[in-house]
Amino acid sequence: MAGPELTGPNLPDPIIEAHGLKRYYQRGSETVKALDGVDISIRRGEIVAILGPSGSGKTTLVNVLSCLDAPTEGTLMVAGRSVAGLSEDELVEVRRGVLGFVFQQFSLLPTLTVTENVELPLMFLGRRADRKKTREILEMVGLGNRADHLPRELSGGQMQRVAIARALIMEPQILVADEPTGNLDKTTGESIIKLFKHLAADQGLAILITTHNLAFGYQADRVITLEDGKIVKQEERHPERTDAVQT
Ligand SMILES: Nc1ncnc2c1ncn2[C@@H]1O[C@H](COP(=O)(O)OP(=O)(O)OP(=O)(O)O)[C@@H](O)[C@H]1O
Ligand SMILES: [Mg+2]
Repeated sequence: MAGPELTGPNLPDPIIEAHGLKRYYQRGSETVKALDGVDISIRRGEIVAILGPSGSGKTTLVNVLSCLDAPTEGTLMVAGRSVAGLSEDELVEVRRGVLGFVFQQFSLLPTLTVTENVELPLMFLGRRADRKKTREILEMVGLGNRADHLPRELSGGQMQRVAIARALIMEPQILVADEPTGNLDKTTGESIIKLFKHLAADQGLAILITTHNLAFGYQADRVITLEDGKIVKQEERHPERTDAVQT
């Protein structure tokens, strides 16, 4: 297939770049402007948090950026490649090669162990899992001692870690998580944010999350606030300072 490599050290940076993104829904005579002209780029190793009230377009934005939904208008580049006009098969390839999606409901299969749940995406593709690699990923997300447990034997935070490990098994360049701390208490949510920071710093993973929680959001490198489908505020955090700088 034509186009740049989807994985490897030569991956283009930013990983995601979008201009003038719009996503309109038609409901009878009413047009819902879920996204109304959003420019965004996400670089390697960067954690970007999308904040904003309910209905502001956060989920719509991450779905469009993850190629789960198509924009009504605008340009979207993923790993240096324009997504417009790609066939469904090509989109699947982009999603698989670049994006790891952490689903909000975790979507764990109750009869499979933690290890098997993590390896599920490979099984779906008919690929054999490398147990050593699965182990490493479980260690990385802090579940080294839960490999043979069933989901019902886990806490909410641990289930979230399984969902993250499952996204990591495909070796994504960017991890996308819609409200990853939404169902978690403060301490557990904080430990997930800490894990994201570790993954970004150590693996160079880009991470895109949405959250209602300002305290979590403001731990990201960049905080983008949406209102009515538009970016109303964008703040960059610099590691050497603790205050947020408006850009
Ligand atoms: N399939 C759809 N059809 C019509 N309107 C939709 C559809 N999906 C979302 N919307 C509308 O688009 C807007 C943005 O929705 P979205 O789910 O992106 O918000 P959100 O910021 O993720 O909210 P929340 O914080 O509650 O998850 C809302 O007004 C919503 O009602
Ligand atoms: Mg949402």
